[in-house]
Amino acid sequence: MSILRIHVLGSPVLRQVTKEIASVTDEHRQFIDDLFETMYAAHGIGLAAPQVGRTERIAVVDVDDQAFALVNPVIVSDDKTLAKGEEGCLSIPDVYGDVARPERVKVRALDRDGNPFEIEAEGLLARCIQHEIDHLDGRMFIDHLSVLRRKAALAKWATIKGKYPGYIRTLNADEVAEHHHRDEEL
Ligand code: NI
Repeated sequence: MSILRIHVLGSPVLRQVTKEIASVTDEHRQFIDDLFETMYAAHGIGLAAPQVGRTERIAVVDVDDQAFALVNPVIVSDDKTLAKGEEGCLSIPDVYGDVARPERVKVRALDRDGNPFEIEAEGLLARCIQHEIDHLDGRMFIDHLSVLRRKAALAKWATIKGKYPGYIRTLNADEVAEHHHRDEEL
C-alpha cells in the first residue's frame, strides 16, 4: 500500500466528473487500499478518487467503525429533512463550513469485491457519503455555502493555499503522527 498525494482546491481534477468503472479489478482493489491508507494517514473519515488525482468513480469512508469502499455509488433516495453540520475537506485543509444536506440517504454501490450493496445511512455517515459522492461529481462542500460564507471560506483558503505548491499536499511524517487534529475532514 502507499500513501498518495492529495490534490487541494485549485487542482482541476477536483472539478472533473468521474467515470463509472465496468468491473472491479485487482488494480481497483489496490487503489481502494491506497485510498484507505491515505485517508487514515491524513486523519480523515472519507476520501474520493479525484482528491488523489484520479477519475474513477470510487470513494472510501470510515465513520463510526463502518469502513467501506463505494464503487459507482448512486443515491437512490434521500430524506426531505435537511440537517446542518460542519464539514471540512482533506482537499481544503483548515477551512470549515456548515452544510445543509438530507439527514438520511439510501445509496447503491459496488463493494471492494465488485458485489452490489445498498446502505441506508443517517447522521455523520450520511453526510460523509454525500460529501464523497459530491467529489465524484466534481463538487466540493464550499459549493453548498451561501455566497457570503463561501467568500469567507475562499478568503481564508487564499491565506493557506501557498502551503501547497502546484495544489499538491504531500503528507509528511509529522502530519501523519499528529495527535491534535480535526476529524471532520472528508
Ligand atoms: Ni472532501
